[in-house]
Amino acid sequence: MRWPNRSLTLQLGALFACVAVTVFSAVGFYLYQALALQLLERDDAELVDRLAQVRHLLEETPNLTLIHSDPHRFLDAVDRRHGLLLVVRGSDGRVLMQNSDDPVLIRPEGRLPAGAIISEAMVQTAQLANGVPIRVISAMGQVGDTGASVRIMIARTAADRAVVLAAYRLKVLSAAIVGAALTALLGFWLVRQGLRRVKALAQQAREVTAHNLTARLDGALAPEELRTLATSFNEVFDRLEYSFNNLSQFADDLAHDLRTPLNNLMIQTEVMLSQPREPEEYQNLLASNYEEVGRLARMVESMLFLARADHDQIALATERLDARTELERIAEYFEGPASDAGVSFDITASGYVLADVHLLRRAVSNLVANAVRYTPRKGVISMEAIQSTDGTTISVSNPGAGIYEEHLPRLFDRFYRSDKSRSSTSSSAGLGLAIVKSIMLLHGGSASVTSTRHGATRFSLRFPTSSGADKQT
Ligand SMILES: Nc1ncnc2c1ncn2[C@@H]1O[C@H](COP(=O)(O)OP(=O)(O)O)[C@@H](O)[C@H]1O
Ligand SMILES: [Mg+2]
Repeated sequence: MRWPNRSLTLQLGALFACVAVTVFSAVGFYLYQALALQLLERDDAELVDRLAQVRHLLEETPNLTLIHSDPHRFLDAVDRRHGLLLVVRGSDGRVLMQNSDDPVLIRPEGRLPAGAIISEAMVQTAQLANGVPIRVISAMGQVGDTGASVRIMIARTAADRAVVLAAYRLKVLSAAIVGAALTALLGFWLVRQGLRRVKALAQQAREVTAHNLTARLDGALAPEELRTLATSFNEVFDRLEYSFNNLSQFADDLAHDLRTPLNNLMIQTEVMLSQPREPEEYQNLLASNYEEVGRLARMVESMLFLARADHDQIALATERLDARTELERIAEYFEGPASDAGVSFDITASGYVLADVHLLRRAVSNLVANAVRYTPRKGVISMEAIQSTDGTTISVSNPGAGIYEEHLPRLFDRFYRSDKSRSSTSSSAGLGLAIVKSIMLLHGGSASVTSTRHGATRFSLRFPTSSGADKQT
């Protein structure tokens, strides 16, 4: 039996039927028992009643012989047709009157004093000689004023009761069967109704495809219990849509960014080869090609780095680094380009930073390279490192035109460039800040930017003090 794979409708329907059968049977059984008990009590009360009646008739009878000669008054009170049996015997055991000669009733029992209070508790169960069960009560009675006592025994066969009960049993049983069947059907129907909305949701989910990423589940359609599920699904779809769009944008940008330099290479080479040239011209072309190919190689390397960082394939060798030393080293490295651009550095740094030295240098260098490019002549680029209790923040800020606010949230995205005009210039691929962000994520830190128009643009890198691999502290 592999229940988990069976239809939920069938399972719940069957469960409903089982519950219905159990409940109906229990209720039917209880009602049957209650009725049986009530019938018994009623019969017993009647026996006590009849006994009192017979006693009364005896008291009104002047002597024993009259009982014998006129038994009809007694036999009317205790009617055989209603299953009532009566035997009256004298104190010597002689039968004075009877409407049944069953030997069980002739037994000398029930030696109760006449006039004693009789109650239902005195009724007993017995069996006639032919096996029919009876309820029986016996007591002494007094005849007229003679002082003679007689023994009275009244019994009732269970036949009446049995007939009523049998009919009742049949009714309860059929009610239980019909009720259970109806409940099962109703349950089946209810479950189907309930699951229809799940099916509708599934249908909606099916409509979300690569070509239709914007489709969502209609939360209003879902029953309350499933609404959170629908919301969760929608959130998953949101994330998938975002990633999917990013990925297609990435592929588009990649193709575009590779095409331009490759086209340049091809055209230049083709033109050069179209006729014989001086060796110097070949040399120049090769030098230019070398530069272009180098740029492509760097771009591919950057993308590989990003891909590996995405898949956590870069192992961090975290060290405790002196912040000032690192910043000074990077500034020194950029001395040439900075003096070409007519900009200078100002370093304010103290404390240490926990980072992988190569990655830290790469991240800060990317920021400094941008700063050098976007700072007007005579501008000063300031590099800062501030250590606090929970980490060290390294920031690079530069004066310049600044970045429009609308670009800021996407600045760290791959291939994102705020000024498209520069995109075709030699060294701008729009991957620098994406790499900065990846490096910061690898360190468990974060990268952020603030910029004001014609004010300062400031990039900040926050390195936590307790990064994953503290080697030395
Ligand atoms: N210091 C800065 N001042 C102004 N704009 C900047 C600065 N740094 C980065 N940007 C903007 O962010 C974009 C993305 O930078 P980056 O990822 O390094 O790519 P790239 O340098 O290859 O253009 C740049 O194209 C530029 O528009
Ligand atoms: Mg850059």
